[in-house]
Amino acid sequence: MVKDWNPKSWRAKPIQQVPAYPDLDALAETEKRLASFPPLVFAGEARKLKRALGEVAEGRAFLLQGGDCAESFAEHGADNIRDFFRAFLQMAVVLTFAASSPVVKVGRIAGQFAKPRSSGDETKNGVTLPSYRGDIINGIDFDEASRIPAPERQEMAYRQSAATLNLLRAFAQGGYANLDNVHQWMLGFVSGSPQAERYGQLADRISETMNFMRAIGINSESHPSLRETDFFTSHEALLLGYEEALTRVDSTSGEWYATSGHMIWIGDRTRQIDHAHVEYCRGIRNPIGLKCGPSLAADDLIRLIDVLNPANEAGRLTLITRFGHEKAAEHLPRLVRAVEREGRKVVWSCDPMHGNTITVNDYKTRPFERILAEVETFFDVHRAEGTHAGGIHVEMTGKDVTECTGGARPVLAEDLSDRYHTHCDPRLNANQALELSFLVAERIKKEQEAHPPRQVVNF
Ligand code: PEP
Ligand code: CO
Repeated sequence: MVKDWNPKSWRAKPIQQVPAYPDLDALAETEKRLASFPPLVFAGEARKLKRALGEVAEGRAFLLQGGDCAESFAEHGADNIRDFFRAFLQMAVVLTFAASSPVVKVGRIAGQFAKPRSSGDETKNGVTLPSYRGDIINGIDFDEASRIPAPERQEMAYRQSAATLNLLRAFAQGGYANLDNVHQWMLGFVSGSPQAERYGQLADRISETMNFMRAIGINSESHPSLRETDFFTSHEALLLGYEEALTRVDSTSGEWYATSGHMIWIGDRTRQIDHAHVEYCRGIRNPIGLKCGPSLAADDLIRLIDVLNPANEAGRLTLITRFGHEKAAEHLPRLVRAVEREGRKVVWSCDPMHGNTITVNDYKTRPFERILAEVETFFDVHRAEGTHAGGIHVEMTGKDVTECTGGARPVLAEDLSDRYHTHCDPRLNANQALELSFLVAERIKKEQEAHPPRQVVNF
């Protein structure tokens, strides 16, 4: 048990990013009801993910984490979930093959509803209203009523998360994630890509391997692992009243777990060591993420690691770095060196999205080439420091949106208004996301040719 901690000990700490709920009694009622609802995930699953991330920390696996910036109540159809899952699995297969090692699959999904904002309010045409903070808190429409934080939204988010998770579990275990399916989808993507020739080489090698496996009798009939996959959920633990209500003691270990998702992370705006978000996260036993932006000093990072992972458990802590394509080469080495010097076991993951947001034609967007450039720098730095470039963390959708510019089938600045649907930050569309995975795969292959991988394991 963690000392001097309980699920509500965060309430005594300073806190950032708190919504101004007008009716605190109603909020307390909602939290009480949520606390009586079943957990969304169970502790054994979170432990399994932690073990898998432990393999990433040791350099024997790769982490793929991705999904919407913000899930929304409006877009809760089966198609959305299916298309996301389909794109995500294809990325994972490409990366698995390139890395010749397991890929740990973690969605930003089934709970990713609360958003930190740079400013508490937003002004449009001379009218100022509270900022949108995610569907779990208030509405996106720019009118006064919609922007008032409403507690009942937390129950809606909980129920939507449960339904999303239910479908994801069905897809992951019920045959949809069959490797043959994923392989066929991936071939479809490659043949339609302007980069078909480039990506075709890797795709052909995957096809040859699949044919070889079939020839020697390894197929999805004989091997359940080829028709099922482990898929985990994650979100930013921002709305702590909601998290507290879903914090439960695991009957097996007697320890506290967040049951709102398998992994939760602390955002770049709420990582103050003596504040509420760090206090909450230190006490739960799930794997946790910590966003690391340019303002994070190396010694503060070490202090945060002391608090969040005092036992130096591999897989407990994922450092998700997000500096921007031009700043990563300056900031990442100092953090990596400090962590190495102190002998801390962490997963290093690259979020190439949040440091690369710009405004074009009044749309927030992210140029694909900058996203790729930050990922490249991430690999360069880890190669130079002798550490494992453990994973990527992306905002993406399975749909053909026009939110990030560039890519092989380029989205141009003038296209942004066509299908710009995000409720918060711009996401890679399905093609851009897959393209990124092929480019990362090429990079991983190159690394492996230079430094042969450590022993491959299954977990
Ligand atoms: C996010 O992941 O959507 C986010 C807000 O990130 P950060 O905390 O890194 O800005
Ligand atoms: Co975002």
